Amino acid sequence: MQHGKIEYKMIFVIAVIVISWSLNSCVAQSRASVPESSVRQTQVITETKKPQGWKIKTASSVYQMAVARDGIVIPVYYGPRGAPLQVSRANVHVSPKVGSLIREVPFRGGFIAQTPSVEVIFPDRTRECDLVYSSSQILEIEGFPCLRIDLGDSAYGLTVSSYIRVIPELDILEKWLVLKNKEKDPILIENAQSGSAWLPADEYDLFHLSGRWGNEFMLQRTRLTPGVKTIQTRAFVAHENPPWFTVTPAKQGSETQGPVWFGGLHWSGNWRFDFEKFPSGNVQIIGGINFWDTAWQLKPAEEFSTPKLVLGFSPEGMSGASARMHNYIRNHVLRKKFRDALRPVLYNSWYATTFNVNEQQQLALARIAREIGVELFVIDDGWFKGRNHDRAGLGDWTVDKKKFPNGLQPLIKKISDLGLDFGIWVEPEMVNPDSDLYRAHPDWVLHYPKRTRHEQRNQLVLNLAGEGVYNYLLESLSTLLRENNIRFIKWDRNRALSDVGWPDAPVPMQREVRIRFINNLYNLIDELQTRFPEVLFESCSGGGGRTDLGIISRMDQVWTSDNTDPADRVMIQYGYSHAFPAKLMVSWVTNADWHKVSPSLKFRFHVCMSGVLGIGTDLTKWSEEERKLAADMIALYKKIRPLVQEGILHRLHSPFEGNRAALQYVSPDGSEAVVFLYNLWETLPGSTRTARASGAVKLTGLDPDANYLLSGDRRGTASGETLMNIGLPWFVRGNFNSAIVTLKKQTQ
Ligand code: GLA
Repeated sequence: MQHGKIEYKMIFVIAVIVISWSLNSCVAQSRASVPESSVRQTQVITETKKPQGWKIKTASSVYQMAVARDGIVIPVYYGPRGAPLQVSRANVHVSPKVGSLIREVPFRGGFIAQTPSVEVIFPDRTRECDLVYSSSQILEIEGFPCLRIDLGDSAYGLTVSSYIRVIPELDILEKWLVLKNKEKDPILIENAQSGSAWLPADEYDLFHLSGRWGNEFMLQRTRLTPGVKTIQTRAFVAHENPPWFTVTPAKQGSETQGPVWFGGLHWSGNWRFDFEKFPSGNVQIIGGINFWDTAWQLKPAEEFSTPKLVLGFSPEGMSGASARMHNYIRNHVLRKKFRDALRPVLYNSWYATTFNVNEQQQLALARIAREIGVELFVIDDGWFKGRNHDRAGLGDWTVDKKKFPNGLQPLIKKISDLGLDFGIWVEPEMVNPDSDLYRAHPDWVLHYPKRTRHEQRNQLVLNLAGEGVYNYLLESLSTLLRENNIRFIKWDRNRALSDVGWPDAPVPMQREVRIRFINNLYNLIDELQTRFPEVLFESCSGGGGRTDLGIISRMDQVWTSDNTDPADRVMIQYGYSHAFPAKLMVSWVTNADWHKVSPSLKFRFHVCMSGVLGIGTDLTKWSEEERKLAADMIALYKKIRPLVQEGILHRLHSPFEGNRAALQYVSPDGSEAVVFLYNLWETLPGSTRTARASGAVKLTGLDPDANYLLSGDRRGTASGETLMNIGLPWFVRGNFNSAIVTLKKQTQ
């Protein structure tokens, strides 16, 4: 150890291990929702002696680092357990004249081999750093072990603490950095990524999601060839790219088999992931805040913390990666208040009434909604002052007296008396130029004094980084929630950033605007949730444009897409399922028919029932027969809801590969399951690859020795072995037809 006192340190580490072991056993009792770990927490993070370093073991992976002779912490290995973990002497005994080129926290300084995660300018204008090991500690953070490695610049007062918090049973590492200025003057941070990983040499494919409005979450696959592949956002909106990826060896990875590295980011602003493929075959994955047109002035004694980067490993292909991410989100990311609660069946009146809302008509819809089994009634856009179209009103969060002369309270009372919760739509970060707020504070939007203020959907973006905007939103939304019995907020954001100027701020702060905006967005949501703890939140952004771990740790569910055509939704939702669990995925039954193929109401329900079921159509137009079908479907959904929202998802057939899709959700103990079968169009028998390959659909995750009772659209009994090895016959015929089959393990 070059920069530490070994004996003292070892005693200290042992003490910390003992303390954290006893803390673990206390904490474990209070964390009933976390599955039991097969890996003893004390064995998760260990210090190694030859070479000096650390080894992190999860259920299926190993992450190893060492301190090289020049004091640089280097990555040694990240991959499956059981692989040889020899550290080559060449790596550790690097020539100090060259220095270590491959670094655990890559920085701008010396020879640059990797994509850097720390780039700073010191007060004397030196633009390079030299981050060497100073000490380490094994901590426990919220019940899980965490390794902190402290690095310090060899000549300047900058320390960088690199954190790795481990969730061993999910094979997940959370990585983040904390930079601290110990100089007497400010240090300029030009880049601070959350974490980097170094994969073994191989030929890799990258999977990520991309899309656009009405077409979110499309799965993309690309070979990583030498060079850098970047996925990123620069204007907040992430239709193009939710922050999620998987990387898998091109020849090994599949849906159910082979090693897969996966990741996500706890950040709702601009972000980036770089995948740098080296001529050696290694791949560096690095991710965090996108510092494009951004810099942060770190004042003396201040700290800058990056958001958490999530890195995980699955030895069971893509489905194993999804299962781990779903479990992580449900058990570790969602806020505790609603973490274990099933999401309600909601009705949203947007497509029925758009901006033209009034008490009588909303009540009429609510009555029918109640009759068919809906639990939450949501009034969307149009309820607030002057909001008769999308050209006016945004920013004025008071009730429109022309539409609701007595306010919202009488409507909410009647809806509550029906036994429904009441929810409302808001879009706090935006303003229409035609609003009282903009007339009073035209300087509160992002802008440059001499530049056009570009509008999208007739909106400008409020500068939430500013204190005035923050206080205004906190007070107006608090008043709305205080005066009305609102139990649900749909929080929308309908445009991207442009003209990102903040002329009123001190010059060094002006380029911090995007980070400060998101920090204040989080503060605002957190403060509202402290004041109004019973309110459930939904994230929306012109559809699914804000779906990331940062927002999901605050908002309890997500609007997936404005495209509610069920045929399209089969694809959008299939893509979505790779990164996010069905428990968040709000899906409304509507009459939308983007392709003029007229799917049946039953098909529409079956598509939406594989997520958080909602209805978003004009219920007064439904016939008696349609209402009866809806009531039956909602009743069935309530029975299968625990499986859909809490179960383990298996993607059985991809709609991107043929004319059908199939999903299966299984209870963790394999005793119950529900299968969704969707025929998108009928083909000649044997004419498509999927039809040829699958006269039957093979189920998974069942007990092979047990018998299962099948009900729903297919009845009978079959053994788990038969269902998994031979499969369930593909009995769904015809265009846009579907089936739901439930399975229950027989006990005898
Ligand atoms: C966005 C949302 C829709 C709806 C409208 C209202 O487009 O995605 O669901 O709320 O705004 O203006």
